[in-house]
Amino acid sequence: MLGALAVTIAARPRLIDIKTHDGTRPIVNPVGSQPKVDPEASRPCPAQPMSERPSIVPRVALVTGGTAGIGAAICEALLAAGYRVAANYASRHAVADAFATRTGIPVFSWDVADLEACAAGVARVQAALGPIDVVVNNAGITRDAMLHKMTASQWREVIDVDLGGCFNMCRSVMEGMRERRFGRIVNISSVNGLSGQVGQTNYAAAKAGMIGFTKSLALEGAARNITANAIAPGYTDTAMVGAVRPDVLEQILKSVPAGRLAAPSEIARGVVFLAADDAGFINGITLSMNGGKYLS
Ligand code: CAA
Repeated sequence: MLGALAVTIAARPRLIDIKTHDGTRPIVNPVGSQPKVDPEASRPCPAQPMSERPSIVPRVALVTGGTAGIGAAICEALLAAGYRVAANYASRHAVADAFATRTGIPVFSWDVADLEACAAGVARVQAALGPIDVVVNNAGITRDAMLHKMTASQWREVIDVDLGGCFNMCRSVMEGMRERRFGRIVNISSVNGLSGQVGQTNYAAAKAGMIGFTKSLALEGAARNITANAIAPGYTDTAMVGAVRPDVLEQILKSVPAGRLAAPSEIARGVVFLAADDAGFINGITLSMNGGKYLS
């Protein structure tokens, strides 16, 4: 699967000047553009062949939890693929500032668990970069505990951020995407949303919930060229996984055929693939990227 993705991504034309990211001058982007369609039309919007698309403005992508871990890798991969990228983060300002300085990607702070904050954040991003074409719901937290020890707040926080954040963000961009008849939603679920995991009833429920959410949104947006897909990463080399007890992690890695953690950049490849203009016929899937672990 990854081989096929690699070919697809490598074949895409690159942005002419990907360093320019301040929004002060137009960039010719052979990859993306706003489709010119009648907003009143009610029939399905078929994908346009690459050669027929106007190539003036690059697409805008917003990544939640985008300044560290998998989110940071996604931001950088989208930037390299020619997108104008904004990174949302919650509260670690120093980490976000360092990320912005290193990459040139603008960062925006708000809590994805708060619907009003998401709507206001989306408005700020759109004022700075233009209408959002791609949303990657990557922000997530863990509060691991066996169920018999789990507090109500451990349950609620994970559901509110991981699953609620997905609703809040999609709700905040969906009307605009429907009007413009283009959108790409990529929801970062988890291998543990498919398999379950000891100590993660909250997280697995949220991540499995994202998959049902994604399938439903895929049905709703399909006729307007808005796709919604999920990625279920395996254990990845991030601070979140670094916090897992070493003895537990050792056991987990024994169940991964590749025998190692994923690199964040390996997960980001899947996002770039699903976010592409010409990925319009891929809708409602869950792309497992887990080092060969078979999950039916
Ligand atoms: N299957 C069945 N039972 C298990 C088990 C397993 N895999 N692992 C542990 N148990 C049992 C233990 O034998 C023990 O049983 P007894 O009480 O009968 O002795 C019981 O469960 C409690 O185990 P612990 O001593 O480990 O309990 P704890 O309270 O000290 O630790 C925990 C709980 C910290 C949640 C620990 O279970 C754990 O670390 N689990 C893994 C959590 C995990 O994988 N988190 C991933 C974070 S990264 C992430 O989520 C990103 C992503 O998308 C992948």
